Amino acid sequence: MADHAFDVIVIGSGAAGLSAALNLDPRLKVAVLAKGALSDGSTAWAQGGIAAVLDVGDTFESHIEDTMVAGAGLNNRATVEFVVENAPAAIERLAELGVPFNEGESERWHLTREGGHSHRRIVHVADATGWAIQQALEKAALGRPNITLVPDMVAIDLVTGRHAEGASEERRVWGVYAVSRETGRVSLLTGRATILATGGASRAWLYSTNPRGSTGDGIAMAWRAGCRVSNMEFNQFHPTCLYNSKVKNFLITEAMRGEGAKLKIPGNGPGGGRRFMKRFDPREELAPRDIVARAIDHELKRLGLEHVHLDISHQDSEFILAHFPTIAERLAQPDIGIDITKEPIPVVPAAHYTCGGVVTDLDGRTDIEGLYAVGEVTQSGLHGANRLASNSVLECLVFGLAAARDINDKWDNMPPPPAIRPWDESRVTHSDEEVVVHHNWREIRRFMWDYVGIVRTTKRLERALHRVELLRQETEEYYGHFRVTPDLIELRNLVEISGLIVRSALARKESRGLHYTLDYPDMLPEAVDTILTPGG
Ligand code: FAD
Ligand code: SIN
Repeated sequence: MADHAFDVIVIGSGAAGLSAALNLDPRLKVAVLAKGALSDGSTAWAQGGIAAVLDVGDTFESHIEDTMVAGAGLNNRATVEFVVENAPAAIERLAELGVPFNEGESERWHLTREGGHSHRRIVHVADATGWAIQQALEKAALGRPNITLVPDMVAIDLVTGRHAEGASEERRVWGVYAVSRETGRVSLLTGRATILATGGASRAWLYSTNPRGSTGDGIAMAWRAGCRVSNMEFNQFHPTCLYNSKVKNFLITEAMRGEGAKLKIPGNGPGGGRRFMKRFDPREELAPRDIVARAIDHELKRLGLEHVHLDISHQDSEFILAHFPTIAERLAQPDIGIDITKEPIPVVPAAHYTCGGVVTDLDGRTDIEGLYAVGEVTQSGLHGANRLASNSVLECLVFGLAAARDINDKWDNMPPPPAIRPWDESRVTHSDEEVVVHHNWREIRRFMWDYVGIVRTTKRLERALHRVELLRQETEEYYGHFRVTPDLIELRNLVEISGLIVRSALARKESRGLHYTLDYPDMLPEAVDTILTPGG
């Protein structure tokens, strides 16, 4: 794509980006960028579903309370209320777009249950909810003549006043520089408003449930442009990722525990087959994720195990296959070879969800004029210290609409971009040492797993920070000399967000929600966000 002027640039084609694009005024020329295929983000991988108060016995107050309890009181109550109260309408919009939510026996939709929810309130499309949502949103976007979908276009950095030809408002975003995977050419894409919807950063860890692209690009870009970033120490580890030497990154949905699956110690020896969650929480398998993941981690370390078991084989096989057809089919394939109706599934915790991110308000606005952020890239105040299951696709839908509405309302007063300098490649050459990029990628993910995992200590965090600083120097030097490639862009962003995560973790002198440190095991009386300010 050559340099191009749009009205609005949306970076990201998951639930957040496409929801925003579909709700923008159809008169606006909108570009939606994805760094790979349109369906490559986490949205398409979502299994469990979307939380909303839809059952007659359920209440907004209860969903709000469950969200705040999971978030260990760090949530912003106004944000929680805003999202929870807008949830039923968000589900309705998806149903109108053709998402085939499973029907209930007496209610309109079947509602499943997940950890931390005190009611059944998760609508789902069997165990492949995200795929159905992604397809419906893409189909709707393809039908809109004002929306241009641009896959394989990797955003490098936001365009700000600093990039203007003449004098311009510095603290304003005017679009993005992005490189095409196909041609390697960097384009300047300008717009009056830019929406970051780039997802999370869980690929900073060696083991993750996320697709490869979850490298925190949007958080790093916003930080470099001057936005505050908050609560990065709270990365959620999902308790049950498949443990398999060949198949990595395959999630076993929490809905399986919601439908009765039990966690057990593996093996036929003493203790083998025994359940263990009761020792950690009275809610047992349905405790919030931080508690379940820490309990598994504790048992793995205590007993020297490689994995624990998740077992649903006591349920009727027809019931299992009706609720979890995708998981059953995938695990039955020869490379895994597990019949979940008869055998337990080996599982381990893995990095799953980034609760922190770019600071936003209830309209999805960031600190910088012209820049919005929605979805997993944000710290909107919804999740606090730990996200409640199935609240995140919901956040994408609610804030996608909110940001689009704000842009529609303010459009007439948004100034057009000034003349912007094109990307300058005159001083760089092609790299002859790609190995540096791949080595550093692997190194980050390894030390983040070992030093910035489920249980932390100050000493380990300091070791991690030292490594981040070394890698930052090396990566910046490399970036300054060689042409940008998608891998180099991701590495640069991973270094940036690893630094933000470790600095946030070091700043928190307590254990709360997902951040657990042996040096400060207690929770302080007051819940305070960690806020990092560029240059601060
Ligand atoms: P994503 O869907 O991740 O989309 C990010 C987009 O940004 C992609 O299009 C990507 O290409 C693009 N992008 C990123 N960087 C760049 C760049 N530099 N340039 C251009 N484009 C870029 N949540 C729930 O609520 N319920 C669930 O059941 C559930 N299950 C899950 C299961 C799995 C296995 C995983 C991984 C997550 C699950 N989640 C679930 C979390 C949820 O899926 C995500 O939080 C949510 O989908 C994020 O949506 P998003 O639009 O913010 O980002
Ligand atoms: C799952 O299905 O367990 C994932 C749900 C979520 O991450 O919200």
